[in-house]
Amino acid sequence: MLSSRPPMGFNTWNTFGENISDAMIRETADAMVEKGLLDVGYRYLVIDDCWSKRQRDPESGKIVPEPVKFPNGMKAVSDYVHGRGLLFGMYSCAGVRTCADYPGSFDHEFLDAETFAEYGADFLKYDFCNRPAAADGPLLYKRISAALRASGREILLSACNWGCDEVEKWIRSVGAHMYRSTGDINDSFASFRDIFMSQRDKFAYSAPGCFNDIDMLTVGMYANGNVGAGGCTDVEYKTQFAIWCMFACPLMLGCDIRKLDGFCLDLVKNKYLIRINQDEEARTPMCVRSEHSGLANVFVRVLSDNEYAVMFLNLTDHDRRCWFTLEDMGITASSGLCLKATDVFTGEDAGTHAEFWQMNLPAHDCAVYLCRAVKA
Ligand code: GLA
Repeated sequence: MLSSRPPMGFNTWNTFGENISDAMIRETADAMVEKGLLDVGYRYLVIDDCWSKRQRDPESGKIVPEPVKFPNGMKAVSDYVHGRGLLFGMYSCAGVRTCADYPGSFDHEFLDAETFAEYGADFLKYDFCNRPAAADGPLLYKRISAALRASGREILLSACNWGCDEVEKWIRSVGAHMYRSTGDINDSFASFRDIFMSQRDKFAYSAPGCFNDIDMLTVGMYANGNVGAGGCTDVEYKTQFAIWCMFACPLMLGCDIRKLDGFCLDLVKNKYLIRINQDEEARTPMCVRSEHSGLANVFVRVLSDNEYAVMFLNLTDHDRRCWFTLEDMGITASSGLCLKATDVFTGEDAGTHAEFWQMNLPAHDCAVYLCRAVKA
């Protein structure tokens, strides 16, 4: 199965926008390997919008790579990426033009899927700008899905219609492997808070085979790049990454991998959070406590191997006391059980918790634990 677990990788858009090139893709591939990101699961290197010439080739009708950005063509880039042990991703759009006004795949779906297969693509992000007014949105995703399936390669379909047409209800049937459910993220706390809140009650549609994609991460951007906005603090990046992991979202890094180090590199390689994100059962977290208009929460996720992930999440702008009772997650007082916890951020033993578990959390912060229910 192409997406039995949430896909992990890197996408050029958040930092680079139209400033993409053969050289920066190769350097990013090298950095993904050398910084240990491939080792922990980040496999896809995806080139987003702005990679092609402004017009199709008049004779073949094909999309053509922009020769100044990609002087060796796209197959050479793909070969390099594959040579580093990574997988290669491309971008197109369901409309006649992409969002940044390059040729889109409308009415060229089968030709373009063949072209991407010739490049050796393993992944296609498929956007939703500039479609003819009369075109049926879901049908356009059926077409590209069929085209990819006919291309002769296994190509993961990353649908990106921003949640239109109640996407979660039909996109799995169409054959997509992940689906953007939101508008575009920018590098600010408010942006990822609002994106998460818009999907908070829709994650039950996300499961092995097709995952809810709440956009590329901004972790590590610190206000630099195409969607830089004001940037986030380390605490906010920690919370962003923990949310994406807890809710089994695709982990597509959006920062400049070549410059990623220190706190954020350690964060995106956190083995406990990745273990939660990639759990084979991909169960939706239960909300066991929700206060302050749903911004202060405790979530419990049932994991494989009789483990639980517990997340205390404070998305309000004030310090909060977050709490829940074990009864809320189904562990009765009479069971004699308590939760034995490991703090995922420190890897340290976080003690045992019976009946009632509470903590004070600063604004925008979270705490996440891997737990087992054991006899007290
Ligand atoms: C849309 C998508 C973004 C990005 C841009 C590229 O806005 O939602 O993720 O792909 O297009 O132009």
